[in-house]
Amino acid sequence: MSPLEHKALWGLRSDMHFLNHGSFGATPLVVQEEQSRIRARMEAQPIRYFVRHVPVELTHCAGLVAELVGAKAKNLSFVDNATAGVNAVLRSLPVGEGDRMVTLSHVYPAVRNAMQALAAQTGASVVEVRLPCPVLDDDWLNALDQALLGARLAVLDHVTSATGLVLPIQAMIALCRKHGVPVLVDGAHAPGLLPLQIEALGADWYTGNLHKWVCAPKGSAFLWAAPKHQANLQPPVIGHAYGQNWQQAFHTLGTRDYSNWLSIPAVLDFWSGIGGLDQARAHNNGLALEAEILLREGLGAQVAGPVEMRAAMVALLLPESAGVASKQGSLELNDRLWQAHRIEVPITPHEGRLWLRISAQLYNDLADYRALLSALQAIQVE
Ligand SMILES: Cc1ncc(COP(=O)(O)O)c(C=O)c1O
Repeated sequence: MSPLEHKALWGLRSDMHFLNHGSFGATPLVVQEEQSRIRARMEAQPIRYFVRHVPVELTHCAGLVAELVGAKAKNLSFVDNATAGVNAVLRSLPVGEGDRMVTLSHVYPAVRNAMQALAAQTGASVVEVRLPCPVLDDDWLNALDQALLGARLAVLDHVTSATGLVLPIQAMIALCRKHGVPVLVDGAHAPGLLPLQIEALGADWYTGNLHKWVCAPKGSAFLWAAPKHQANLQPPVIGHAYGQNWQQAFHTLGTRDYSNWLSIPAVLDFWSGIGGLDQARAHNNGLALEAEILLREGLGAQVAGPVEMRAAMVALLLPESAGVASKQGSLELNDRLWQAHRIEVPITPHEGRLWLRISAQLYNDLADYRALLSALQAIQVE
């Protein structure tokens, strides 16, 4: 199937170079249609749907997700998104005055806010260990090792947001274990992008989005928790099942639309029908590598990290002439690329420079990245 045919499967605009699968994913049309059918079923027979169908189906669908990410079904619950997963864990911890929470300087801004809010409420503090960019060596792991001494909690990315780096999660978790520091892994990007065996990682909690690289409907994510932490976990909403089994408590959130999570079988069928996620991953990683070479050579740009730290996303450092390294500067460049070239690609200020992050998905081909290269070259000579 050609990239253009894939684009049609996803229902994406045919005139768009969509190089940002990473931010919000994209949901195939067949999955959108199934979600509509589930909603119609809800409206056709609300009582039976909410009281009988939803509880049973949610457990079934969470079991399918557990299988996909290498987890035991009883250790995984749905949440709306990774932000909600992180918040649920932070609200469940007995953090107090003087406690130190550790993260990395690439932490996702919403996660940083959640950590800082907890610190402000409790008198704890947040330490951000600097992960230099480009990453040229693993000295930062020594800095992380030192910062973990005596810490109360670590919140560590599996895949960083602005810079798309796949971090050595096993080594980072081993450092946490060495210091006896509980660790929450923010794996927002990881499901679908990386092969996962969550149970084997040895983390305390792991949250990941299904709406990004698994292409589930928006608002589909999960929280995995080691058995010893489950009884203490506060669900996002205290509802009917509060105080019961943690999974039921997380799945009983009052009257709402549960069709996002109930569409999981449809999205898994979608992937089976087009060759599977493993095959897509191999294709996407290969395309991202080709695109990286094209852009790096064409722009003379540095890449955020070595090939072992990348998957289907690559971040490149833009020349200073590309724009001002601020939120405003990145939005302006973003708008120029969209308005003049129909290119959708994220640009983020990080440590005083603008970073461009490309994604590769089955609906992309090299022509998309050639269009980006020409557009950026035109902007540079203006
Ligand atoms: C590392 C990381 N954490 C958390 C999030 C938040 O994801 P969501 O908006 O789905 O909660 C993102 C989103 O891109 C992310 O990249």
